Amino acid sequence: MKKILLLGAQGMLGSEIFNISLDREDFEIVPFSRFNLDLTKEEEIIEKLTAVIAEKNIDAVVNASAYTVVDKCESGKGEELSFAINAVAPRYITQACSEQNIPLFHFSTDYVFSGDTNQSFCENDDTEKFPPMNKYGMHKLFGEKEVLQYDKGFVLRTSWLAGQYGQNFVNKMVHLMKNVSEIKIVKNEWGSPSFTHDVAESVIKIMISDTLPKNKILHIVNERSGEYKGGVSRLAFVEEIKEYLGFETRITPVKTFDTVAKRPISTALNNTMAEKLPDWKDGLHVFLAKEKEKIEKKRAVEKKKQKAAEIYRAQQEKLRAERAENTKEETEK
Ligand SMILES: NC(=O)c1ccc[n+]([C@@H]2O[C@H](COP(=O)([O-])OP(=O)(O)OC[C@H]3O[C@@H](n4cnc5c(N)ncnc54)[C@H](OP(=O)(O)O)[C@@H]3O)[C@@H](O)[C@H]2O)c1
Repeated sequence: MKKILLLGAQGMLGSEIFNISLDREDFEIVPFSRFNLDLTKEEEIIEKLTAVIAEKNIDAVVNASAYTVVDKCESGKGEELSFAINAVAPRYITQACSEQNIPLFHFSTDYVFSGDTNQSFCENDDTEKFPPMNKYGMHKLFGEKEVLQYDKGFVLRTSWLAGQYGQNFVNKMVHLMKNVSEIKIVKNEWGSPSFTHDVAESVIKIMISDTLPKNKILHIVNERSGEYKGGVSRLAFVEEIKEYLGFETRITPVKTFDTVAKRPISTALNNTMAEKLPDWKDGLHVFLAKEKEKIEKKRAVEKKKQKAAEIYRAQQEKLRAERAENTKEETEK
C-alpha cells in the first residue's frame, strides 16, 4: 500500500484528497497542514520533510498547499507570503523529495499563462510566450520551475476550482442568486472550470500508479466539448449554474470588473496527457446536486404553504358568503 505525504491537507483540494483516502484501502495519506510545517519557514522545510519521509516510509509527496488570495499577492504582506509559499517553498520541498529519491506532485495554476479570447493552452506551451499577468501567476511559475528541475518532480496544473471544502466562485454565485435579483459578470474571461472531486480522483490515480507520468507537466482539468473547446466564459459558467438550479436572477454582462490583480482574458487549459476528467457541466451538476435538492425541497414546501393559504382564503370567503346569505334570510323573515 502506497503512503503519500499530503501538504495543504486542510485546503479546498487537500481536504478532498484526504477525505477520499479515508474510504480507500489501496493507499494511505499522511496529512500535513501549516501546523505541522509552516512553509514560510524555509530553514525548517528540508529537515522536517526529510525526517517525516524517512520515518513514515513515504512513497510520494503531493503539494496542494499555496497562498491563493490572488489580489493580496500583489503587494505588502500578501506578496511576501505568496513569494515564500508559492515561489520559494517548492525549491525546498523538491530538495527534500530528491534527497529521499521519491516523486513530488506539485499543484499549479492556469494563471501561469495569459491568453486572448478563446485561446487555450496545452501542457508544453511556452509560458515565456504567454507570460503571467499577476504576481500570483508569476510566483507559481517560479515554483513550477524549481519542481521541474528534479527528474521525479511533476507539475499538475488545475484551474477555476470549486469543491465542497472551501469558498469558491460557484458557492459565491449560488449565494448571490439566492439573495439578489441581478448579478454583473465580466464578459471577457475564459477558463476551464474544474471540480475538486474529479481533480482529486485523477491525482490519486496518478500518485498510486506504479509508473510515473510520461510528461513532466499535466493539466488536470474537467473536459470541455463543442462550443466550449476554446474555454468556458464566466458568463456561460454562471448561466449554467442559474439554469441547473432554476433561479430567475438577471445576469448582466459587463466589460470589466475592478480587481487589484489583473486577470488574464483566457487561460483555459487542455488536458492532452493525462486520463480525461468528466465534462465540466457534469462536474458542476454533481457538485451542486445536494444544493439543488435543498433548493427544490424548500420550493416544494413554499408551494405547499401557498396552496394551503389559497385553500384557507377560499374557505373563509365561502364562509363569509354563507353567513351573509343567512343574515339576509333572517332579516327577510
Ligand atoms: N482555487 C483555485 O481556483 C485554484 C485554481 C488553479 C490552481 N489552484 C491550485 O491548486 C492548489 C490547491 O488550491 P486550493 O484552492 O485548494 O488552495 P487553498 O484552499 O487556499 O488551500 C491552500 C492550503 O495551503 C496551506 N498553506 C497556506 N499557507 C501555508 C503555510 N505558510 N504553511 C503551510 N501551509 C500553508 C493552507 O493551510 P491552512 O489550511 O492551514 O490555511 C491550505 O491548506 C494550489 O496549488 C493552487 O495554486 C487553485
